[in-house]
Amino acid sequence: MIERTFVMIKPDSVVRGLIGEVLSRLERKGLKIVGLRLIHMSADEANSLYAVHKGKPFFNDLTAFIRSAPVVVMAVEGESAVAVVRRLIGSTDAKEATPGTVRGDLSCSKSMNVIHASDSVDNAKMELSLFFRDSDIIKYKRLDESHVC
Ligand code: CMP
Repeated sequence: MIERTFVMIKPDSVVRGLIGEVLSRLERKGLKIVGLRLIHMSADEANSLYAVHKGKPFFNDLTAFIRSAPVVVMAVEGESAVAVVRRLIGSTDAKEATPGTVRGDLSCSKSMNVIHASDSVDNAKMELSLFFRDSDIIKYKRLDESHVC
């Protein structure tokens, strides 16, 4: 089943010059980038994106961090894209993330952990709606679509 998920390259990754590295890993896996923006997240957007963590001790630091530098937000499509991207990025605490995953290779931090991706199709819909209108999503075919999944 082709799914669409929300992925964000976090501020640590942007200021470390890792946008290309992270995008490349998603593309090489065969995932299709159908929406892409470099933004400075507003306070409202940060509060909405991380609403599920409101009240937790790290919430204020998390929203401040996510607004500390630009982020890249994207809509990503592929076969079982939600689970595939979550496996590709690795565990939240990058110290424990498996080598070979984005976090396992590029970070040692739980907060500055390079990348965020939705954990369910429903959350993907909600998170995508914060940053993309339906008309922002670009339909096209990748030449290798019949060879990667
Ligand atoms: P992310 O996938 O963006 O989803 C929520 C984020 O909160 C998570 O990655 C971590 O960066 C951060 N986070 C989760 N738990 C903690 C924690 N205990 N301390 C600090 N940051 C956390």
